[in-house]
Amino acid sequence: MIDFKKLADKYQTPLYVYDFDSMSKQYSALKEAFRGRKSMLAYAVKANSNLSVVKHFAKLGAGADCVSIGEVRRAFMAGIPKYRIIFSGVGKRDDEIREAIERDILYINVESEAELARVEIIAKELGVCARISIRVNPNIDPKTHPYISTGLHDNKFGVDIDTAKRLYIRSNNSENLDPVGIHFHIGSQLTELDPIREAAEIVADMVRSLSAAVGIELKFFDVGGGLGVCYENEETIDPYEYAQAILSTLTGMDITVICEPGRYLSANAGYFLTKVLYEKRNGDKRFVVVDGAMNDLLRPSLYSAYHRVDALGKGGELSRADVVGPVCESGDFLAKDCELPKMEHNDLLVIHSAGAYGFGMGSNYNTRGRSAEVAVEEGSDRLIRRRETFDDIIALEKEYLG
Ligand SMILES: Cc1ncc(COP(=O)(O)O)c(C=O)c1O
Repeated sequence: MIDFKKLADKYQTPLYVYDFDSMSKQYSALKEAFRGRKSMLAYAVKANSNLSVVKHFAKLGAGADCVSIGEVRRAFMAGIPKYRIIFSGVGKRDDEIREAIERDILYINVESEAELARVEIIAKELGVCARISIRVNPNIDPKTHPYISTGLHDNKFGVDIDTAKRLYIRSNNSENLDPVGIHFHIGSQLTELDPIREAAEIVADMVRSLSAAVGIELKFFDVGGGLGVCYENEETIDPYEYAQAILSTLTGMDITVICEPGRYLSANAGYFLTKVLYEKRNGDKRFVVVDGAMNDLLRPSLYSAYHRVDALGKGGELSRADVVGPVCESGDFLAKDCELPKMEHNDLLVIHSAGAYGFGMGSNYNTRGRSAEVAVEEGSDRLIRRRETFDDIIALEKEYLG
């Protein structure tokens, strides 16, 4: 049991707290589900990119799925070996592509024909053969929130099957491109197996036809991330069934499965602690105003995402309230219509499931410093990012003041 009160007193609020032991458990459960098959879990760094978090996964043997050169650098700093680092993303700059090739990572996930051309040109300039994978958009509805659906033709990600085939043939004929993998990622917070199985079938068929028709033998079958977690009362996918759904499409194929989980590994290991500033009413509407805000935890404002809220150590009659922050936006809320007892100044709220897409989506909006981050591991706690100060926020502006 994490002593949230002690941590809030020690590190102040707003505060992110991560249970590293819970992250380890999630990692092992998913890795175990792929047992007996060549596989790699490449942690999706975007979910929670704190260096200590990435290092924790590095120590467990994870690779890294990165979507900017900044994330690639984080993965290196955290000790992920270069042969376990993947660079994805729909809009890579030339300098990012160059650095990824120079760093000799496992492969670059290419998301368009135009990008493939840039990778080829840059690899030629460097006099090397760049390992690539093509992100296929299988046009499957993942049945998740539209903002986190990525595998439909309406979404900006990847290329359709016919284009992908053409790009593989082009890469195979190039001296500067080495097509080693195939990639798809249909969306995040997936809670149904059928779309995953369907997408895997389409992509596995493509791998077979590339081998049979043009002799391209791919080594990596990258299924992206997306495994959903329970925020409220969602039925989630069992990791074993998830692995089976994918593996069942690969019968007879000698190919390494790569999976890029983010949320599954870190969401429910994270908590956001915030203190009550005031209670107020506007007519019949009750608000609990807290010191954390949308600049700390954006998911409720961005996706109307639900996060469980616990009023620590409080009892008494419950009534509905919106938990809101100090930011000057009506969209600044952490919870809507949440059943809470009467709250007083300095009471502590624990916001659950905040370990993925929490801190990383934070900002300095309203000149608010980002929260501190703390790791809890085997019963002890340690700071893994200090709280931002006013001086941190203005550091890049103040010399231009004149
Ligand atoms: C290519 C890719 N891989 C992995 C992930 C991680 O997704 P999740 O955190 O849902 O597992 C994402 C999320 O957007 C992604 O775009």
